[in-house]
Amino acid sequence: MVKKTENRCDLIMFGALGDLAQRKLFPALYQLDAAELLTAGTRVLAVARKDLDVEGAREQLRKKILENVKSEEMDQAVLDRFLQRVDYHRLDFGTLDDYHALREWREEGGHGALIAYMATPPSFYGTIARNLREAECIDAATRVVVEKPIGHDFESSCEINDQLAEVFNEDQLFRIDHYLGKETVQNLIALRFANNLFETQWNQNQISHVEITVAESVGIEGRWGYFDQAGQMRDMIQNHLLQLLCLIAMDPPSDLTADSIRDEKVKVLKALRPITADVMETHLVRGQYTAGSSGGKAVPGYLEEEDAVRGSSTETFVALKAEIHNWRWSGVPFYIRTGKRLPEKLSQIIIHFKPAPHYIFDPDQKQMANNKLIIRLQPDEGMSLQILTKDQGLDKGMRLRQGPLELTFSETFGQGRIPDAYERLLWEIMKGNQYLFVRRDEVEHAWRWVDQVISNWEDHAAPPKRYAAGTWGPVASVALITRDGRSWYEDV
Ligand code: BG6
Repeated sequence: MVKKTENRCDLIMFGALGDLAQRKLFPALYQLDAAELLTAGTRVLAVARKDLDVEGAREQLRKKILENVKSEEMDQAVLDRFLQRVDYHRLDFGTLDDYHALREWREEGGHGALIAYMATPPSFYGTIARNLREAECIDAATRVVVEKPIGHDFESSCEINDQLAEVFNEDQLFRIDHYLGKETVQNLIALRFANNLFETQWNQNQISHVEITVAESVGIEGRWGYFDQAGQMRDMIQNHLLQLLCLIAMDPPSDLTADSIRDEKVKVLKALRPITADVMETHLVRGQYTAGSSGGKAVPGYLEEEDAVRGSSTETFVALKAEIHNWRWSGVPFYIRTGKRLPEKLSQIIIHFKPAPHYIFDPDQKQMANNKLIIRLQPDEGMSLQILTKDQGLDKGMRLRQGPLELTFSETFGQGRIPDAYERLLWEIMKGNQYLFVRRDEVEHAWRWVDQVISNWEDHAAPPKRYAAGTWGPVASVALITRDGRSWYEDV
């Protein structure tokens, strides 16, 4: 049974009329209210630059929440109750005077911790933080939530982190990587550290290699300008994929506190081998999609999307072979791939165990004779352990068959809805628990590694290889793994 948060809090949502707030954050707050996890006095102040009165703002939020919450999960009475918690202030991020009204709002009926959620471009984080301090809106209990991207590279991330650190202590900062709020991502911790069965096998003695795939079927979705500056390496690998890699590769933390977990993740990031010029050819593939089809419909290529600038060489696909230089993972490659406009939306991790040391079955079946643990993050969250058994029937002799020990969460644990990542993250923020948020040194070590990959490819690599929308990326990404005598799971 979920314990209700005792903490009544005031949440100020900067950028409340922006895409993230409307598509994800307000629907998540509605769901928390529906689950009765918001205490009676919890208030939300929506803040944006548009001139609106509170009724106008509530109507706009109502419309967006209705659009983004499934109709079977919508309860009009809860929505009305939730909107009554919401107030609205017009505010220009850079105008100090506007912030005095926030202090008055706090003084009027504020209780509990103040949460300042910056659902804005990162270029505003420093300004908002300073103005909150100047207008005396904050105290030592204030929590600040910021979204990725924290910078464009190591240097710019330091600038942003420094601006935040001028006003807030690290234990007040909640840096979001929404993958950490996903049910199955959290389950990686339970799987690894609650099951001795796995943890004793979790090393280079027993595991041959690991695959991490985060595939999206969508393209750029009207975000060409932003995406073209970032590319898949900065947009997905620097944060989501490296976080997954850390959770798979880290050593057992001594407890579940935020710093114990984050200390272990940082050790993994520090042990990542740079992808230097001499291994660029064999360890990295960049791709860019051309016209093709998605969900049975013809779709344009990256360079023909709305607002596209011809000739851009930004990558929409990356496959790479990462190596972790430590005792546990020496010699175990982590093959990682992620891309837009792939055949389906699919995030999964596959742990390939080594085969038995002495093989006694049919030689022609030797290839399949290893166990795999498949962890499905989305869709259809669950896990499956592929094990080998004897094929049934008198005529089969000792032929082997691979079959799954299957755990599909929705079937095993009932049909209850799996909360969206943002619901969990918002709830943890309200409880003041930082273990699902990224610490400054994690962000910075991730940037250091990504920066050197990018700078090496800028100096040495060819332009991204083309792949048709609706396929699994450039052919070279298949070669990246087959060169080592292996294949991507989909290709088996
Ligand atoms: C975001 C990226 O962080 O994650 C997007 O900026 C990407 O480009 C999205 O589409 C994917 O998230 P999810 O939860 O849909 O896998």
